Amino acid sequence: MRCTVFGTGYLGATHAACMAELGHDVVGVDVDPGKVAKLADGVVPFYEPGLEEVLQRNLAAGRLRFTTDYSDAAAHADVHFLGVGTPQKKGEYGADLKYVHAVVDTLAPMLERPAMIVGKSTVPVGTAAALGVRARERAKVEVEVAWNPEFLREGFAVQDTLRPDRLVLGLDHCRERSAWVQEHIREIYADLIAAEIPFLLTDLATAELVKVSANAFLATKISFINAVSEVCEATGADVTMLADALGYDARIGRRFLNAGLGFGGGCLPKDIRAFMARSGELGADHAVAFLREVDNINMRRRTKVVDMAARACGGSLLGANVAVLGAAFKPESDDVRDSPALNVAGMIQLHGAVVTVYDPKAVENSRRVFPTLNYATSVSEACDRADVVLVLTEWNEFTALTPTDLDPVVRSRSIIDGRNCLDSTAWRAAGWVYAGLGTP
Ligand code: UDX
Repeated sequence: MRCTVFGTGYLGATHAACMAELGHDVVGVDVDPGKVAKLADGVVPFYEPGLEEVLQRNLAAGRLRFTTDYSDAAAHADVHFLGVGTPQKKGEYGADLKYVHAVVDTLAPMLERPAMIVGKSTVPVGTAAALGVRARERAKVEVEVAWNPEFLREGFAVQDTLRPDRLVLGLDHCRERSAWVQEHIREIYADLIAAEIPFLLTDLATAELVKVSANAFLATKISFINAVSEVCEATGADVTMLADALGYDARIGRRFLNAGLGFGGGCLPKDIRAFMARSGELGADHAVAFLREVDNINMRRRTKVVDMAARACGGSLLGANVAVLGAAFKPESDDVRDSPALNVAGMIQLHGAVVTVYDPKAVENSRRVFPTLNYATSVSEACDRADVVLVLTEWNEFTALTPTDLDPVVRSRSIIDGRNCLDSTAWRAAGWVYAGLGTP
């Protein structure tokens, strides 16, 4: 099959490479010539394990190319995937659809034969139906809009795309051509369907809402355990042990019950806010009002860690030397969008501390958004004469650290484990003051 993918960020670049891996003839499209040039050269412009190999293999096989030319893309295929970003609007909760609209407004008039736009981005419910109207107003030919939400996690993007838990396809059943759309999408995903990955066919609104509610559920699960973690702190209970015990109940499950600094990234925080904003527009704001508390619990963990750092420095951060290990919003990613780690580093600096950050992959991105922090090129450089060390992203490099690695460099043997990822017993036994979240 021939297809295009608009947008070459974490989602679009992965989708384009993986569709080529499935044997399709794919054109990836982006308005940023720099990104297109890198991808065309076989270089992934962000860190995503395994993606570069898939990209290079498919470029070499001639199944994948990249362009900034929309007319080239319009002519290439009848199936156009939409994978551009839908960030939070500045100063508002709602999602900004300007990139989605820009693709549709540019692409639709260029179509020379009936085509379909298949949305993968996370959008507020109702967007797909409105985009159908918008595309048809601008096109000379028939255009269908379908929604096929993407559930990939950064760090596991390739595996999540080639072996997803499920495929969801939302169609506009009022349209005569909806069967034609379904046929094409089933053919694109034929290998996955043959591998018995569940394929759920639904309407546009349900497909959009599946994605939004999946992320809202995951965010709620994390904030639930973090709320319990606050109670653990008040009583001396141990949230990790508690989560392990809860997790044995198959109805609950252990995944996404890691208490700590909470969720960040380009999806969960903005998706719950956009869900609240959209539900408000629909007159159903009370239905998801609890998500405000989910957000509050999440943000409270960040200030809690700042307070813990102050306590570790004798009550004030003024003039303290603080080492922050981790800047990415999670390990195996260089993404610092709404990163709890970087947010905490910034707050500690505002309290007058000298903050030095080290992350195996995210320093470059961090420097761009937070140029005033100090950045180190290694753990020992970051921890040099530190009054306290904070582990805020659970990279393997940090979980493998032992007290003897840091003993010779720090000024004070004090460590805050923002992800409950270190062996507290070992650190305490070596004479360190260890503090975790929701652990005694
Ligand atoms: C998420 C969804 O998982 C994915 O399905 C969707 O397509 C995009 O949004 P992602 O943003 O890549 O994926 O990260 P995820 O692995 O979900 O982690 C999100 C945040 O939650 C991270 O900051 C992580 O550190 C935090 N988290 C995760 C916890 O604090 N505790 C946990 O138990 C799990």
